[in-house]
Amino acid sequence: AAAEKGGYEHFMLKEIHEQPKAVQDTIGAYVKDGHVDLSETGLTDEKLASLKRIYIVACGSAYHVGMVGKYVIESMAGIPVEVDVASEFRYRNPILAEDSMVVIISQSGETADSLAALRLAKERNVPVLSVVNVVGSSIARESDYTLYTYAGPEISVATTKAYSTQLIAMYLLSIQSAFVQGKLEESCVSELLAEMETLPDKISKVLDDKERIQWFASKYANAHDIFFIGRGIDYAISMEGSLKMKEISYIHSEAYAAGELKHGTISLVEDGTLVIGVMTQKDLFEKTLSNMVEVKSRGAYLMGLTSYGNYSIEDTADFSVYVPKTEKYFTTSLAIVPLQLMGYYVSVAKGLDVDKPRNLAKSVTVE
Ligand code: AGP
Repeated sequence: AAAEKGGYEHFMLKEIHEQPKAVQDTIGAYVKDGHVDLSETGLTDEKLASLKRIYIVACGSAYHVGMVGKYVIESMAGIPVEVDVASEFRYRNPILAEDSMVVIISQSGETADSLAALRLAKERNVPVLSVVNVVGSSIARESDYTLYTYAGPEISVATTKAYSTQLIAMYLLSIQSAFVQGKLEESCVSELLAEMETLPDKISKVLDDKERIQWFASKYANAHDIFFIGRGIDYAISMEGSLKMKEISYIHSEAYAAGELKHGTISLVEDGTLVIGVMTQKDLFEKTLSNMVEVKSRGAYLMGLTSYGNYSIEDTADFSVYVPKTEKYFTTSLAIVPLQLMGYYVSVAKGLDVDKPRNLAKSVTVE
């Protein structure tokens, strides 16, 4: 088993380190000569050009990818996107518009609720694109179009590299939809793709900093509650960071849209409560920073997560983590890595079963 882990102590750490390659392989499969080429998925440019609405349906981390997808697709391609957790979608009798498409995201391709959501969409004659990692899985087989992610086998229950490749799938879908719908010029497409191709190296750069995160994580291993806050894409990152933390470290944590704090949650903040502010989006930086100041005055201990250059964060945050600069749409790919490492190192510091957390299964194939 030690050999399977390639020298790493846990599959999760191995898979965290496999992210540059997983991301690169997924980009490589669909970017050809400076263009997005989705022909392997069966999805045509004609189909993408006709889309007026997209429904993204998934569970857990894959749902968090959908949240990122919504922000990216709406802002880049101008197509309205609804995101649902599969167990809600399947029972709420959703209204599915004409010229729409359902996108099911699933690492395993076997998640019961996601499969049921797919079948519901098909019954209503809405085409389904699945974003799946496991070749030949039920969701891949039953959908009209399949965009395979190239993460390779993921063993750890907590997803890391599959999540990262699903993000790439969202960027690709968004860029190509925007292009064929006339919302993005060819030169902008090339620029975005060129930037996307720098992500593997930038992820490696974030991984180089892991000792700092390890040190910080061991300080907070006994925390009772942790809050993650952010706005827009940073809120979506917060949701995933929070899930990573709770599923493997058993620390209660919540992700909040930063502006929602004062509508309830802020009453939970007391002396020493750890609040992690995700602030990669330039136009929202000051807004979230003001929420950080608010919680600090209630005694919170602050970790700020932002991009290189935003050093003013140190005036407010007690501990700051920086990720390389990238296009605003792609920041999730970098900012999620320190949060994965945080969850991982807290779990290790507590001596927990990182790869097989209690009560959880890798894929939830029964309702
Ligand atoms: C993530 O770390 C989880 N273990 C879980 O939320 C997972 O993402 C969810 O169960 C969906 O699984 P799937 O991608 O295989 O459908």
